[in-house]
Amino acid sequence: MKVTILLGGLLLTVFSLSAFAEKEVSYKKDIFPIFQDYCLSCHVPGGKGYNRSGFDLRTYKSLMKGTKFGPVIQPGSSLTSTLNVLVSGHASPAISMPYGIKGGLPKDKSALLNKWVDQGAKDN
Ligand code: HEC
Repeated sequence: MKVTILLGGLLLTVFSLSAFAEKEVSYKKDIFPIFQDYCLSCHVPGGKGYNRSGFDLRTYKSLMKGTKFGPVIQPGSSLTSTLNVLVSGHASPAISMPYGIKGGLPKDKSALLNKWVDQGAKDN
């Protein structure tokens, strides 16, 4: 009995510590630089990606607005967000992003994007 309570307390401590250690991903510091490096060459007015999809990645507002068909980010759910799927390397090569690059984004970058969306895709 005593042991169970002790173990429970220990587990709780471990969980709250790991929640504390989970760093919040920043749009400005972590996410925008990825768009700058991998997406903005095409997703600005006049660029190939913007012209075909209407998706402008210059600002948080235009990012959240999405394509001419609507949003590509569902805050809180990277699994169902079009943007995250397209850069994951699992999308069909015809629509995988960055366009024309096999395998999508480097894994650490797509993982960071997933984390940011799962944390609510905030303008932080
Ligand atoms: C070399 C140019 C290029 C780059 C770089 C690029 N894109 Fe694209 N993007 C395109 C083109 C072209 C389309 C339109 C594809 C189509 O529908 O045929 C597109 C479409 C999209 C769409 C809309 C897809 C849809 O189904 O409506 C999203 C979302 C997107 N890109 C995200 C990104 C992200 C995020 C990056 C950076 C990781 C990126 N793109 C980098 C060219 C590019």
